[in-house]
Amino acid sequence: MGRLFGLGWFILLIAAVYIEAQKKPSINISSKCLGNVMRVDVGPLGGNFLEVAVVVNDSAILLTPSLASQCGFSIKINQMGNAMIYASLQNCFAQNVGDKAFTTTLTLRLHGNRMAEDELYQVAETCQYAAWASREIVCDRNYMEVSVKRAAPDDYALPENPVQGTNPKFGDPRRAAEKQTIDAGFRITTIMFYIPVEKVMGVTEAQRSGYGIANTPSRLVLRSPKTTPETYTQNVAGVHMTVLKTSTVFEKKWLATQIDAAAACPILEGSVSFTPNTITWYLPRHIDPLISSGQLQLLEVHIGVDGQRLDPAEMAARQYSLSINDVHIIIQIPVGAVGGYFKSHVQDDHYHTSYTIEPMLELLWTEDSIHEDTRYKVLFPITTPLLSRPPQVIDNTVPEQRMFKVLLGPFGSDVALMNISFPYEVLSVADCIARGFTVLEHMSPNSSSKVFMLEVPFTDPVVSQTRDMGYTVYSLHLTFGLLVLPEFAPFSHPVYLEAKLVDIVPPSVSGGCDYQNFYVLVQYGTQGANFQTIVGKQLLTSDLAEQYSFMENGTHLSFAVPFSSPDVVFEAIESSSVKTRLDVALLNPETNKNIKEFSLACNFPSTLIECFPNGTMTALAVKLESVPSLNPGQLTLRDPTCGPSYSDDRYAYFVFTGNSCGTTRKFFPNMMLYANEISLPDELEKIRESNTEDPEYELKIACYYDINTTHAVAFHTRPRRSEPYAENAKGELQVAMRLAVDDSYSVFHRAEDYPLAKYLQQPLYFEMELMRSTNPRVSLELENCWATLNSNRTSKPRWNLIIDGCANPVDPYQVLFHPVWVDARVQYPSHFKRFEVQMFAFAEDQDNLNRQLFVHCDVVICDARNPLGGVCSGPVFKPGKRDERSKTCCCRCTQLRTCVCRTHNYRLRNPNKQFLRVHTWYCFLGKIPVEVEV
Ligand SMILES: *[C@@H]1O[C@H](CO)[C@@H](O)[C@H](O)[C@H]1NC(C)=O
Ligand SMILES: *[C@@H]1O[C@H](CO)[C@@H](O)[C@H](O)[C@H]1NC(C)=O
Ligand SMILES: *[C@@H]1O[C@H](CO)[C@@H](O)[C@H](O)[C@H]1NC(C)=O
Ligand SMILES: *[C@@H]1O[C@H](CO)[C@@H](O)[C@H](O)[C@H]1NC(C)=O
Ligand SMILES: *[C@@H]1O[C@H](CO)[C@@H](O)[C@H](O)[C@H]1NC(C)=O
Ligand SMILES: *[C@@H]1O[C@H](CO)[C@@H](O)[C@H](O)[C@H]1NC(C)=O
Repeated sequence: MGRLFGLGWFILLIAAVYIEAQKKPSINISSKCLGNVMRVDVGPLGGNFLEVAVVVNDSAILLTPSLASQCGFSIKINQMGNAMIYASLQNCFAQNVGDKAFTTTLTLRLHGNRMAEDELYQVAETCQYAAWASREIVCDRNYMEVSVKRAAPDDYALPENPVQGTNPKFGDPRRAAEKQTIDAGFRITTIMFYIPVEKVMGVTEAQRSGYGIANTPSRLVLRSPKTTPETYTQNVAGVHMTVLKTSTVFEKKWLATQIDAAAACPILEGSVSFTPNTITWYLPRHIDPLISSGQLQLLEVHIGVDGQRLDPAEMAARQYSLSINDVHIIIQIPVGAVGGYFKSHVQDDHYHTSYTIEPMLELLWTEDSIHEDTRYKVLFPITTPLLSRPPQVIDNTVPEQRMFKVLLGPFGSDVALMNISFPYEVLSVADCIARGFTVLEHMSPNSSSKVFMLEVPFTDPVVSQTRDMGYTVYSLHLTFGLLVLPEFAPFSHPVYLEAKLVDIVPPSVSGGCDYQNFYVLVQYGTQGANFQTIVGKQLLTSDLAEQYSFMENGTHLSFAVPFSSPDVVFEAIESSSVKTRLDVALLNPETNKNIKEFSLACNFPSTLIECFPNGTMTALAVKLESVPSLNPGQLTLRDPTCGPSYSDDRYAYFVFTGNSCGTTRKFFPNMMLYANEISLPDELEKIRESNTEDPEYELKIACYYDINTTHAVAFHTRPRRSEPYAENAKGELQVAMRLAVDDSYSVFHRAEDYPLAKYLQQPLYFEMELMRSTNPRVSLELENCWATLNSNRTSKPRWNLIIDGCANPVDPYQVLFHPVWVDARVQYPSHFKRFEVQMFAFAEDQDNLNRQLFVHCDVVICDARNPLGGVCSGPVFKPGKRDERSKTCCCRCTQLRTCVCRTHNYRLRNPNKQFLRVHTWYCFLGKIPVEVEV
């Protein structure tokens, strides 16, 4: 055997490139005795190279592939970078103690780029193994080994020429029963291979050819690389097997004996069939080349992985199955089962995997006829064909989270994510993370597969958005750029993601008013009725909802709030209306934030102030939003002793009359005004003192007795009452002033004739008529008439024609009054007044006689039974007190003293296109009851 080691040092470099392992490895080494083999597990190698050497007699011999197959070693490195070193117990270098204890010592040297210095480990394992069967056969990945009990038939006599001679007894196994141990004096000289023709080889030549031949204390060990010229292939029950058949010749002096040894190991062809999910491995039940009798009894069948037996429970857990029929022993292993590993591959940019597992089958059979048992062990690495494994895209996006979440996988652990391509850019994983994406690699704990997880916020520019019918559609095109390690084989997988998000439309509020109520309509948004309604400052409870005629139909709600409701605020009081506002807010009950705020401002016609014809006025003072501290009960009228007749925290109600509580009275051309104010008395004091600020609260009360020409005004006497009495009514009082052509007052200048051209001294025949009145008890009285040079009745110069119903006494051409009689035109003479004026010119206007002249009159309407009473004579009316007199006149007509005067202009056109404007004054008596006059 010493010659064997003379082969010297060989280098066996095993590149274990496992990129992912970043740590400096602190290697785990363990060893196991697995029957007639031992296994040393090393790993993970973490990208380092492993050199294995065997230690014998204090020197280390590097294991090369050929030395390994010759001497009973095999090494495999799996996906994870873990190495497994198998050694036959009877390897060339084992220290064998009585074929019972076998010690193998290995040195492991790790070196690589990442390590500063090589690491050296030594592992020694002693395995006890005494239960040797007569024959033990091991099929490892790179060698086949047969070890037989070193016994020769006792009656065996070495032939004269053992090498050439044909032993008639060879191949008769029954003879083996009588075998005797060959003692140490015998020496191996020759090996005969049967291929099946015989080939004789000297032992040295055989060793040089790669065969391992050893003589242990009791056994012959023969080891052959998997294929040699001296092996042949045989189809055994459909399974192709490599067969080694030998006879080894021992010689001692003149004695020679020989031992037969045969091994047969399956090769993949015919052994394995694949489906995408299952591996089925067939081993012939009768391995014919190894069986001489044809009759055998199968004593034991064990299944294992990586050289290690599994018990039935473990097998079941891993879903391995074993079945035996007459022809085969069949093992089925699910693809992906525990014990194997996936390897990734790329083909045409598509992801594929293969699955590799190294099952072990161990049989013990006996051939009764020859009383020999055989232990048969096959370590059988199986790799599936490439399986297309298109990765799955799992879109876990929850649109509401506004984040695309996608899972891609599963991939083998040897796949790495390099980059992600988006439509306009390619981002490395680091770029993605810097960009705010989440990129995670998720390793599944038991299947050693991984998935990649990517999260991209909708807000990132790589996400495109389109709007469509109330939706926003977010879409993302991306391509994962992946690599299979350690080959750095790139592949890619495109992914398209789309998420739809309903645009959130908040509820909308609209509203309007009529004379009494605010009407509020809320249209729900996309979130439905998920809000609370605040009206004014309070929540719209069900009680309140009932009060406000609340209605709801699934898409809308509506309610009506009366303008006097406490939820309505008063902003201002205007002459004929109250400016009010209703605030409505929609509140998100979860966040307590307003979704929507809405204010509706409406002017409600004011009924705050009422003026009754009998002189009673009522006023309702309301608390304004701008005066939150106001206590309405403290308000008073101008007269601070006039407080409200009723008040609460929002209102104060005042009742007073025109001649009480400091009410003032004013006359205007077309109306009469009673006025008062409501305010805080202290307030007024303050204002007076400081003279700067406006009062905080001041409500002006004005009662207008508004009389237009279009209003009926009539005189009314009630039989039972001594005084005339006026009430509201509609009707019309019209006074006309005309110029008659002559004193017959039968023909009049028509309206279109004005202005009239008249010569100085030419008489002008004026007639005043109370039009369209059929009330004989009313009389029209002239009060004052005068002339001016322009239409302004108060302009100067002014010439009085009639004063207090009388001709101006200082006028050189005095006005001449003409009596009025009943005739075709005149039904009620008291409704007419006629007077004659001679055309004149103003002194300063002598040179310009073309100027216009305007005549104005004030008239009064009086009770015909009690007219101004001999107007011109009466001592009752003092000159210069016209107002007083007309008022007296009017006031005789009405208790309310609402007589109002008004000007009407008439325009006269003269030949020189000048204008003569005639003004009349007349007096309204107040509002007239309908029954009397229309
Ligand atoms: C070594 O093996 C032990 C047990 O199997 C394990 O806990 C430990 O993590 C391993 N160490 C390394 C460096 O792999
Ligand atoms: C190892 O040493 C023993 C005795 O010292 C010797 O018999 C044997 O041949 C040596 N083996 C090798 C491989 O040198
Ligand atoms: C609900 O009421 C609103 C407003 O009155 C109306 O426009 C809408 O059509 C109603 N919807 C249904 C489903 O009745
Ligand atoms: C005045 O008229 C109003 C309304 O008709 C009535 O309520 C009130 O009592 C009257 N006042 C007087 C003093 O007659
Ligand atoms: C009264 O009549 C005048 C002129 O015809 C008009 O301008 C005014 O608005 C009227 N007033 C009311 C209160 O109707
Ligand atoms: C009319 O004349 C008076 C006094 O001359 C003047 O105060 C007033 O403004 C004038 N009115 C018009 C409408 O011109």
